[in-house]
Amino acid sequence: MISTRTSGAIPLALISLILISTSARAQQVSKTDADMTVPPAVVQSTLETKKEGGILIVGGTAAGPNDNPFQVGLLVKAVGDNFNAQFCGGSLIAPDVVVTAAHCNYYRETKNGPKLLRKPSEVQVLTGTRNLTQGGVRRDVTAIWQHPNYKTNGNNYDVAVWKLSTQVQGIPFAQLATTDGTVGSELLVTGWGATGEGKGSSPVLLKVSVPVVSHATCEAAYAPGSITPQMLCAGFGPGGKDSCQGDSGGPATRSRDNMTLTGIVSYGWGCARPEIYGVYTRVSDPEIRDFIRQHLN
Ligand code: ARG
Repeated sequence: MISTRTSGAIPLALISLILISTSARAQQVSKTDADMTVPPAVVQSTLETKKEGGILIVGGTAAGPNDNPFQVGLLVKAVGDNFNAQFCGGSLIAPDVVVTAAHCNYYRETKNGPKLLRKPSEVQVLTGTRNLTQGGVRRDVTAIWQHPNYKTNGNNYDVAVWKLSTQVQGIPFAQLATTDGTVGSELLVTGWGATGEGKGSSPVLLKVSVPVVSHATCEAAYAPGSITPQMLCAGFGPGGKDSCQGDSGGPATRSRDNMTLTGIVSYGWGCARPEIYGVYTRVSDPEIRDFIRQHLN
């Protein structure tokens, strides 16, 4: 339990300590994309990978066919098996348009090296399966756009659109939220990410429901002013259920049929920690929503 949240700011020394300890483990792993799902700043503290036993949806259960049916997996094209190739999630909002997190567009050349922008030719999108070891169709990507205000050393405006080379048929597409739902209402989050800090990722798509929390509650967990209008927080005070590394870019949905894309998995300090919440890109923010819509055709 982290009991150092005196004035709301996470002590820098503590973050550094966590960074150092996770860096040591990260260097031992050879997965090409070990760092690629890790966005800047605070999120680095939670770096985990599949091979070392990383973190997935925490406290979840297997997703059914109707739980975020538009969920896709982002893959490294050069890696043959889907389980090892998957590094982020995404949502189809049209037959050939995927919404994901901007930080999913980047990976690190070396542990401390510069972040490199992915090229469309280096990635693919997995559709048509909920199991990374079975079935599905790998589709090429023809374009990647990210929000013009996204900065690789920040967490804000964490949204991107990927254009597919082929059209996905036969599934319902996500709708873009215009409202968030009230504080306390539940978001359905799905992903193939880690099942806990220090645990492995799931070949089976997992789901978890987490309640929306207020910006004030969330800033108390992070730092004053750190939670922008482009962010939405969700989670339980006692922790235990959350998204985690590898879930990034994936959907947080609401409304009765959970077809409304309300959040995009973005970052968090660790996963499922008490009084620390998952942070999602807020789709209802006009700047986020307009960016996505601009790339819908
Ligand atoms: N940044 C992570 C990823 O790249 C997602 C982290 C979400 N963390 C959380 N505690 N909700 O997969």
